[in-house]
Amino acid sequence: MKQSLYDKLQVLEPAGQGMEKEERLRAATRPLLSWYHEHRRILPWREKPEPYSVWISEIMLQQTRVEAVKPYFDRFMEALPGVQALSEVTEDRLLKLWEGLGYYSRARNLKKAAQILIEKYEGTLPSSYEELKTLPGIGSYTAGAIASIAFGIPVPAVDGNVLRVISRLTGSREDITRQSVKKAMEELIKGVMPEKDPGSFNQALIETGAIVCLPNGAPLCGSCPLASLCIARENGLIGIIPVKAPKKERRTEERTILILSKDGRVAIRKRSNTGLLASLYELPGLDGRIPRELIKGALGIQEAVITPLPEAKHIFSHVEWHMTGYRVELTDLPEGDYLWVTPEEIKKTYSLPGAFKAYTKLIR
Ligand code: ADE
Repeated sequence: MKQSLYDKLQVLEPAGQGMEKEERLRAATRPLLSWYHEHRRILPWREKPEPYSVWISEIMLQQTRVEAVKPYFDRFMEALPGVQALSEVTEDRLLKLWEGLGYYSRARNLKKAAQILIEKYEGTLPSSYEELKTLPGIGSYTAGAIASIAFGIPVPAVDGNVLRVISRLTGSREDITRQSVKKAMEELIKGVMPEKDPGSFNQALIETGAIVCLPNGAPLCGSCPLASLCIARENGLIGIIPVKAPKKERRTEERTILILSKDGRVAIRKRSNTGLLASLYELPGLDGRIPRELIKGALGIQEAVITPLPEAKHIFSHVEWHMTGYRVELTDLPEGDYLWVTPEEIKKTYSLPGAFKAYTKLIR
């Protein structure tokens, strides 16, 4: 059987002769920090890192790039400036503020966590890493980021950026998608974490990964403060490290999306409360690729003007939707749990996930 590059890498001895990993990381600390103080981006949540703003920004940054997060962050902080407001926000408003960021469960977890903070912590974030980790949506990375950046506690915050930087620096060929590898990296960092300003240390690692040590074999080694210490660079392994196990293939689902309209309103409905896009609004849809002549029958209606809409695709982490669509101008209301809303209300009040974007933009 043919071995994949990934399989081959697993049997190679790690590089990194000479300096041990911890020693190498310790040697990296100073250049990393001075680079960070000179080159870091000025970000709205960075210059005055309050626990609440660090929390919100870190959750947003888990799925989206810094530039894209900025407007969301500003709008969110203005609408919900603290834990109390977040704990009381309605679901529709919360999801509307999150619309476009994806992974709506993260927004729901923010609200759940805020309610716990009100009940148990007088509306403030706890300053201990362990307590932070008990809150919904806060894992080791976010707990580490909040504890170190907002509270100055020396704990690591290992995200994909940090995994990439340190794997390259130390020449590690271990699979960074494994929890055990992330844990080992956290332990390694703990050993060299400066007591003074651990928040800057973590952010320096993150920032290097975000703007210099770029993924997909395109790092800017010429601007990297760690270039002279970097094993991957020295051995021409930048294109290979970090090693990631191949992802499972996504399954494809065919969907037929409908813009049902009547008297200037369109139908939306709530999805079931489990599974993909749980409890979010959606444009009504049918499983499969339904031909135009079967649409009326599927909706249980006699009359409608049906116009085909363009095909579209949306990629989720585990599934890919291949969509076809129709505009269905109705004379009678079909049976079903629909909410009939105006295009204005969709813009202002109801959040429809990005998966429907190709069709929501055609609502008129
Ligand atoms: N990505 C995730 N967290 C970040 C942070 N604190 N600064 C910049 N990029 C990030």
